[in-house]
Amino acid sequence: MSTKGQLYVGIIIICTLIATIGCKKSNGDQPLYDITKTVVDDSAMVVTAHPEATRIGLEILKAGGNAVDASIAVQMALAVCYPVAGNIGGGGFMIYRDNMGNAYSLDYREKAPSAAFPDMYLDSLKNPIDKLSTKGHLAAGVPGTVDGMYRAFQRFSKLKDWKRLIQPAIDLAENGYKVTERQAGAYNRYQDDFKKYNTQDHAFTGEWEKGQLLIQKNLAETLKRIRDNGRDGFYTGKTAELLVAEMNRGNGMITLEDLQNYESKWRDPIKTTYRGHTVISMPPPSSGGIALSQLLSMVEPYNLRQMGFQSPESVHLIVEAERRVYADRAEYLGDPDFFSVPIDTLTSKYYTASRMADFNKEKASVSDSTEAGVIESEETTHYSILDPYGNAVSMTTTLNGGFGSTTIVGGGGFFLNNEMDDFSIKPGVPNMFGLVGAEANKVEAGKRMLSSMTPSIVEKDGSLYIVVGTPGGSTIITSVFQTIINIIDYDMSATEAVQAPRFHSQWLPDMIFHEDDALSEETRMALSEMGHELSQRGKIGKVEAILVSEGGKVVEGAADIRADDDAKGF
Ligand code: DON
Repeated sequence: MSTKGQLYVGIIIICTLIATIGCKKSNGDQPLYDITKTVVDDSAMVVTAHPEATRIGLEILKAGGNAVDASIAVQMALAVCYPVAGNIGGGGFMIYRDNMGNAYSLDYREKAPSAAFPDMYLDSLKNPIDKLSTKGHLAAGVPGTVDGMYRAFQRFSKLKDWKRLIQPAIDLAENGYKVTERQAGAYNRYQDDFKKYNTQDHAFTGEWEKGQLLIQKNLAETLKRIRDNGRDGFYTGKTAELLVAEMNRGNGMITLEDLQNYESKWRDPIKTTYRGHTVISMPPPSSGGIALSQLLSMVEPYNLRQMGFQSPESVHLIVEAERRVYADRAEYLGDPDFFSVPIDTLTSKYYTASRMADFNKEKASVSDSTEAGVIESEETTHYSILDPYGNAVSMTTTLNGGFGSTTIVGGGGFFLNNEMDDFSIKPGVPNMFGLVGAEANKVEAGKRMLSSMTPSIVEKDGSLYIVVGTPGGSTIITSVFQTIINIIDYDMSATEAVQAPRFHSQWLPDMIFHEDDALSEETRMALSEMGHELSQRGKIGKVEAILVSEGGKVVEGAADIRADDDAKGF
């Protein structure tokens, strides 16, 4: 490894220690949770955003469940212990690779309600109405999570015991869990929104402190209905009625029929090759798989390692690739059930080479359009799971913004997503992540909004190699991309690859965003001279990765040091 690489290892060890100690110290010397950021084991691994969810996933694996079983239990657990993004009122995507090498992708993305229409967030002058697509009842799409989990269970469960998978989340909701310092801070910060967009009592009211117990009785009852009735426990009966009653209180659109008609879908994953590896990722309605495939193909002809890690040359190359990829995203990507996405063309190496034909090694090109802001937000969640049988799940799930629409279903105890903002509410008008779009991603009844979520799995020599994903809105694609090249091109371990500082660019705004320590002053100056604009921002992504090496005998789990994420294995 280079001297720079060694320096990183040093920094990472120190950061890991600080993060670990930080999480362990609470209520005097009592550890709140036993959080581990890096684990090397030989069989199974669970890496999630919250130690309670990691614990539950591991318990399911130890009880004989497979990666799909564990991922269902983790999804439900996160809805309780990580409500900022974990959910039953949202949606997500699963990439599943079984131990025979078969790969599947499950789309449990939310859908626009049947009453939705293209201009629904615009006023009479066709201008966007402030916060209408991001807060409150009208921001919510029809949730997909419970249908998705039930579908995955029916096809791939090994335990074949749905109740066993839901029960740990019920226990967590009934008995409560201790909120971390970060969580207490978030619950306090969102109190105004919770008041503004809710009329019914809920569990989040009040002033929160680290270590305080959060008990969610209404959520426990909803989860019991899901436990006892499967999919119907959410989409029909009492839960559905509570959800529709909530809609009626706040001018929302979701109806009982919308809930009954929701269907998650198995889709063909996007597959691409990169330096001899096979990369498996999410197809539309996520842009993630196509964009990741394009980025990898665009940089593949260049020797990134020789250019140097986060050197002016490599950052320039990557940013120029990102400019082209995000421009394509805005134009061509949307729900494939509504818009014919040219997947084969966009992912062909011939096409990506032609897109890079005008790449100038010395000069930045220009994204000519109005600038848009990028909101910093960590509020999606990813988890990576490997079971002892060699099956792996890469799963990203979200409410979109922090606590979604911030509306909680009265009596149901769960947050509703604000995923409708992922549509292009007006051509060229940026969404909360600064992403623009047009026809392909306009609002239409029953359509899925375009996503950036990029749950991914990489194979090496036909065997499982990397399981990876992250939250981060538009930065998801670039964070997954950087983690993969960190491992493949820069020879990093999973821990080094996950903890390494990141940068991001997305065509519009025409800017390189970077974490505090991502680019040296020299690199920043060289990039400015090439014509790039740079802007330092807060943390980018929270990557959860698993790296499998030595013929499957060594399994490294890496949980991002940027938050409370926890990796455990056996
Ligand atoms: O599907 C998407 O791309 C977004 N709804 C993801 C939102 C997200 O990652 C928020 N966290 N930063």
